[in-house]
Amino acid sequence: MRIVIDHVGKQYAGPDGSPVTALEDICLCIEEEEFVVLVGPSGCGKSTLLNMVGGLLAPSSGRIFVEGLAEDRDPSVGMVFQEVGLFPWRTVEENIGFGLEESSLPPEQKQQRIDRHIELVGLSGFENSYPHQLSGGMRQRAGIARTLAIQPDLLLMDEPFSALDAQTRTLMQEELLRIWEQHRLSTLYVTHNIQEAVYLADRVVVLSRRPGRINRIIPIDMPRRGRDGAEHIARFNGYCDLIWNLIRKDAEEALREV
Ligand SMILES: Nc1ncnc2c1ncn2[C@@H]1O[C@H](COP(=O)(O)OP(=O)(O)OP(=O)(O)O)[C@@H](O)[C@H]1O
Ligand SMILES: [Mg+2]
Repeated sequence: MRIVIDHVGKQYAGPDGSPVTALEDICLCIEEEEFVVLVGPSGCGKSTLLNMVGGLLAPSSGRIFVEGLAEDRDPSVGMVFQEVGLFPWRTVEENIGFGLEESSLPPEQKQQRIDRHIELVGLSGFENSYPHQLSGGMRQRAGIARTLAIQPDLLLMDEPFSALDAQTRTLMQEELLRIWEQHRLSTLYVTHNIQEAVYLADRVVVLSRRPGRINRIIPIDMPRRGRDGAEHIARFNGYCDLIWNLIRKDAEEALREV
């Protein structure tokens, strides 16, 4: 299955009611099993694009559609946000099972699916914990498990690790890759963090701001595993520099406006 974003634009009503163009003429495909990362300065329209792909927002122009889905149905979409939004009154297990409640799976299969995903994200032993009893990283993992448990066709993530400290974030990036390798879902991932983008992506899409457009699409030509290892450091840093130079001017302008 591939997602086609075809000449998509988005306008919002600005503070005085006049239209503000957040995104203009975005053309991009997310291929089967591809991990695409969107980067760009604050306010360039990353979340807007992700939310349109997820069907939470309608494009003002252009269209977004799916090709190559075997059955005749809408694709299922799993979303993970910066705030995981676990239900505080539900345990880890009940949170992960949430998306399965409406499904027609027999109860024992639901339970198997839940158990498998608890194990996948390394939360075995915490099934009966409530969110407030977990660390931030554990909550994020529970949120990822809840999203993956519905077995989505497409995974959308909007800065899922930005609220975590640097060490936990690094561990979560490794964890995400490990999990992702087992599912290999078409993925669109938003981050501010250039190292994170280069570490995770098959392709990095750099957006420019005002209005948000595609500035450059950069295929990351490195093995998926061990990109941060010593032997790749020069390549890795080369990609980071390239991306940073593309967004630097925009980012500086964005800072001055805040
Ligand atoms: N509901 C809305 N109504 C009006 N304007 C909006 C709305 N949502 C977003 N915008 C504007 O659209 C632009 C893009 O916003 P968006 O949240 O998509 O950016 P972003 O790249 O995700 O930013 P950040 O990196 O800070 O999360 C911004 O200029 C923002 O002010
Ligand atoms: Mg955003």
